[in-house]
Amino acid sequence: MIEIKGITKTYRAGSEIFKAVDNVSLSIGKGELMSIVGHSGSGKTTLLSLIGGLTRPDSGTVVIGGTDLWSISDDELSAFRNRRINFVFQFASLIPTLTALENVMLPTAFGKWDGNVAAKAEELLGMVGLGDKINNYPSQLSGGQQRRVAIARAFINDPEIVLADEPTGDLDEETEADIFQLFHRFNSEKGVTFIIVTHNKELAAKTRRQVRMVHGVMGES
Ligand SMILES: Nc1ncnc2c1ncn2[C@@H]1O[C@H](COP(=O)(O)OP(=O)(O)O)[C@@H](O)[C@H]1O
Ligand SMILES: [Mg+2]
Repeated sequence: MIEIKGITKTYRAGSEIFKAVDNVSLSIGKGELMSIVGHSGSGKTTLLSLIGGLTRPDSGTVVIGGTDLWSISDDELSAFRNRRINFVFQFASLIPTLTALENVMLPTAFGKWDGNVAAKAEELLGMVGLGDKINNYPSQLSGGQQRRVAIARAFINDPEIVLADEPTGDLDEETEADIFQLFHRFNSEKGVTFIIVTHNKELAAKTRRQVRMVHGVMGES
């Protein structure tokens, strides 16, 4: 469902041209769960943002479910992203004046916070182990707990694709493994497609498919 052909992204620093992602092609089936590993600076974050239509490649194409992301208008692209893709970034950013529950409900349409949305948000918080903290504000949660709220939030709109950039980087090993288990569960129960950038080789090894980035170039591993 995701067809990436020959994408390249270069950055310019003065007269230097730097290829952060170099001619990467990748085909990802619906319902796949894969990991991307690689050293810092190897182009993982850039690749994820290219896949998710946040960054335009200098060359090559990204086609998701038959839609060529860069052949549609900006408005169509942002609507496409909102509907189908969710990002879990390295740094959780929660709204400090909203409770954990409200933060999870936030991506749903404003003004539609009915009982169903609240029940779903509560269920998601339970799944990430925060069933007893739903009314806590971010300042009343540890860093790891805030990250888990952000992860619960990523699932409120039933995304088809989740792009996660080192989502568990700053969590303890046990919580990290729990979150990965959760990803596997959403993958098998709801058919969500996952692309997860991680430093944790053990957890990457448990995903069905792994690719490695080396200086912007991709290889299957
Ligand atoms: N906006 C930018 N401008 C210039 N260089 C960038 C920019 N974003 C990333 N880079 C460079 O591209 C390379 C890949 O970065 P990144 O995709 O963040 O790697 P990773 O996520 O694997 O650590 C790095 O050398 C980084 O310095
Ligand atoms: Mg990165």
